[in-house]
Amino acid sequence: MLIKLSNGKEIPIEMHKVRIVQKTFFPCIDHRLKSIEEGGYNTFSLRTKDLFIDMLTDSGTNAMSDNQLAAMMVADDAYAGSESFYRLADTIKDVLRFDYVLPVHQGRGAEHLLAKVFVKPGDVVPMNYHFTTTKAHFELAGGTVLEIYADEALNTQSTNSFKGNLDLQKFKDTIKKFGTEKIPFIRMEATTNLLGGQPFSMENLKEVKKIASEHNIPLVFDGSLISENAYFIKQREKGYENKTIQEIIWELMNYTDIFYLSGRKSSCVRGGFIATNNKNYYEMLKPWLPVYEGFLTYGGMSTKEIEAMAIGLREMTDVNVASSAAEFVKYFVEKFIERKVPVVTPPGGLACHLDAKLFLPHLPQSQYPSGALSAAIFIISGVRTMERGTISMDRDKDGNEVYSDLELTRMAVPRRVYTLSHIEYVVDRVTWLYEHKDLVKGLKFVEEPPVLRFFFGKLAALDNWGAKLTNVFKKEIGGEY
Ligand code: F0G
Repeated sequence: MLIKLSNGKEIPIEMHKVRIVQKTFFPCIDHRLKSIEEGGYNTFSLRTKDLFIDMLTDSGTNAMSDNQLAAMMVADDAYAGSESFYRLADTIKDVLRFDYVLPVHQGRGAEHLLAKVFVKPGDVVPMNYHFTTTKAHFELAGGTVLEIYADEALNTQSTNSFKGNLDLQKFKDTIKKFGTEKIPFIRMEATTNLLGGQPFSMENLKEVKKIASEHNIPLVFDGSLISENAYFIKQREKGYENKTIQEIIWELMNYTDIFYLSGRKSSCVRGGFIATNNKNYYEMLKPWLPVYEGFLTYGGMSTKEIEAMAIGLREMTDVNVASSAAEFVKYFVEKFIERKVPVVTPPGGLACHLDAKLFLPHLPQSQYPSGALSAAIFIISGVRTMERGTISMDRDKDGNEVYSDLELTRMAVPRRVYTLSHIEYVVDRVTWLYEHKDLVKGLKFVEEPPVLRFFFGKLAALDNWGAKLTNVFKKEIGGEY
């Protein structure tokens, strides 16, 4: 919730109290430099004991509620026919209005099954934007991902409320060009992660569905961040101000043929599922579930997580839960705007994203500005962020670099985990870095994996800039920080 202070300003206020806490560490700058150098300038290689604030992701790092934890205690451990599964299925029926449910171990498990069953070699899968694991699975199945976002989507300094919208004309042109037999489905991702958590509007989804239906193309909805997208519709789209998050979710689902999610985000748990009302799709997917994930009533998830997911799905329809990350992100983004530090606008759903091309204008994309910025932030603050730029793109079949549309450094806001003073600290240190941006130079690969290279790749700092940055920080701020 946003609360108005006596000076007229609004701040996000937590609509929960903290009853369990976890100790954090504050490794000093020399320790941090050593950790990132040993880890090949890749924040995925860091151990949590070597960092202070973890903004790598909001995936599987959200605080669970007392009711979620309590539900875990009544989990019914059975290989087949677990009552926990039926409680989840009942919840999905209520919250999302789907009859058929296929649980999976996490979101990419759902993507794997969808790719396996629907995507054939030579197919094209249009979508508002790709996600890393989605693209990997659809390409491994022989398909091509076609992003048909509106031009504004790549403008990081935009005020467009719905940068996650699909370009309808491009969608029609795509159908004309490839024909429906080459398009297994259209995928819409709620609050498009790699565009900076940007939502699509209800109006856009409705139109996409209309075009898809006219050509018998199923609409697949990636709802990993569905409650945030619903919250933005409530805040930004005319006619939805007085609707509840639940009412908005029901309407979104009216236009959806196949739904899937990573339960690690909006529903504050671990796991995922596919859901549909189409018995035929369900029957096509079902035989593969035990092959790749687990039996129909657990799909690779622990029954404890299944119970917690049933509660998490209901809780995400509470506006105070749906907005808990989004309002922190807004506060975060506005602080950077005040300080003229380049961030993605408008504020998105899961994180505050720095525009690394604007932050480090002296670095070409071949030197990975977003990866360099992520490493530099870690060195000077102990805050772990995630590279979402060219390192997150794999090379093409001929081994050429594929430059990312955007070079973003993501500071994710796990739900209900950090406080405003954590955010203030990050803003302060990143602003200091912006004032010293010339000290940050590029990176080069030392070890480069062939697929999803951002996870395990090892890089080195050109011109040993990490050590130089450390020295300046120690002189200006102090070696104990
Ligand atoms: N779809 C979206 C929109 C996602 O953000 C993610 C994961 C997935 C699918 C895959 O789900 O991780 O449960 O297998 N996003 C995480 C992130 C990894 O850090 O943003 P998963």
